[in-house]
Amino acid sequence: MDTKVRTREVFRTRLGFLLIAAGCAVGIGNVWRFPYIVGQYGGAYFVLLYLFFLLSVGIPLLTVELAIGRASRSSMAYCYEKLEQPGTHWHFNKWWQFSGNYILMAFYVVVAGWMLFYFCNFVSGNITPGMTRETAGQNFGELLANPETMFLCVFITVLFSFTIVALGVIKGVERFTKPLMIVLILLLFFMACRSFTLDGFEEGIKFYLKPDFEKFEQNIGEAIWAAMGQAFFTLSVGFGAIAIFGSYMSERHRILNEAVFIATFDTIIALLSGFVIFPACFTYGINPDAGPNLLFITMTVVFSNMTFGTIWGSLFFLFMLIAAVSTMIAVFESSIAGCIELFKWSRVKAVVINFVVIIALSLLPMLGFNVLSDVHIIGSNTGILDFFDFLVSNNILPIGSIVFVLFICSKSGMQWDRYIKQCNIGKGFKMPTALFFYYKYILTTMVIIVLAVGYYKIFGRA
Ligand code: PHE
Repeated sequence: MDTKVRTREVFRTRLGFLLIAAGCAVGIGNVWRFPYIVGQYGGAYFVLLYLFFLLSVGIPLLTVELAIGRASRSSMAYCYEKLEQPGTHWHFNKWWQFSGNYILMAFYVVVAGWMLFYFCNFVSGNITPGMTRETAGQNFGELLANPETMFLCVFITVLFSFTIVALGVIKGVERFTKPLMIVLILLLFFMACRSFTLDGFEEGIKFYLKPDFEKFEQNIGEAIWAAMGQAFFTLSVGFGAIAIFGSYMSERHRILNEAVFIATFDTIIALLSGFVIFPACFTYGINPDAGPNLLFITMTVVFSNMTFGTIWGSLFFLFMLIAAVSTMIAVFESSIAGCIELFKWSRVKAVVINFVVIIALSLLPMLGFNVLSDVHIIGSNTGILDFFDFLVSNNILPIGSIVFVLFICSKSGMQWDRYIKQCNIGKGFKMPTALFFYYKYILTTMVIIVLAVGYYKIFGRA
């Protein structure tokens, strides 16, 4: 039993902690972004590259966040203050890192809203059989042109997620996320098994995973950038969304064990999502698209042409929706815990205020598709949603991760020995002490290089 955490909620079970942390990690990044970037950048070669970054950057960063959370027993609000050496200013970072929760959610909830919209349309039979790419494209276009419908869908998903968070860590987040994650796993296995029986299985898997060296080599710089970016995004590291669950974690298990579990679980879900998407596309002779079109146009056409497509389509979008909602619950918990600690608000007050803030912020990316469609901040064919994604994925996550790593390595910060000691509390794999040089110099340099490549990719060609 942990003694110093009496006043703070601690997850009731280890499974609860693992599934919630995994729920935070598993989201749109796995079920949608991962499959299409794998197909785009050379299949199995890209997966290997991704695994390299997962091991060399992703898992270490997960342990760093979990250790900061568990050692400070605090959210981003005070984790720096509790661990830094007196008189230092590491805690100035909390403000911009904390803002990551809000910027991410501002656009994430919009995509979750689209998922709800498609789920409802499949369930209610609104997606008519025999749709073509044109009609499906038109439908998606109509949704984007219609802020009222989008608003309603976003409102419902955000309200649902905040209601769970309002109930508390154990009675809300743990109680609801556990079954949600179990349903998610069951749905995925069910759909993946069915995928094996489709005529286009082989062709789909070939497109998805066949090692295509030419494709890989042609875009190697971009592939490296995409693989590392994916590792940050999918594992949710960089602004304390994982640290908060470290702060509710028991001291029975070592941190490396939990980090390896979360990363493995996350990768399996991501890989299997591709097993569901690509064979279905090839069975119905539909070329998979990249970006939002893959889900909302390609997959809609696929399901509308499938026998029992209404059922398969409903299950598919339910699966997507659960993945997104589990992440929303986790990130909302991180911002709510932060606000409670920072402003001494009650949980309910924090929930109400955050609900209003998130809904208000989400209006910007939503309106970016219609009323504000002339606003292009980072390129002529990108909107406000892309800009928010850029702020989080290309800035806050990588820079926040570097700050966390430097913080645990620095003498004025948490200090390496305390990080190692924190990681090694409980049973499980020991964290190797010798990694100090690797963390401080190699890992951070790798992240900085990839960050620079990202900037070049976006601004350098303009
Ligand atoms: N990991 C989440 C996903 O894959 C996204 C996320 C990123 C959540 C950063 C929190 C922090 O969808």
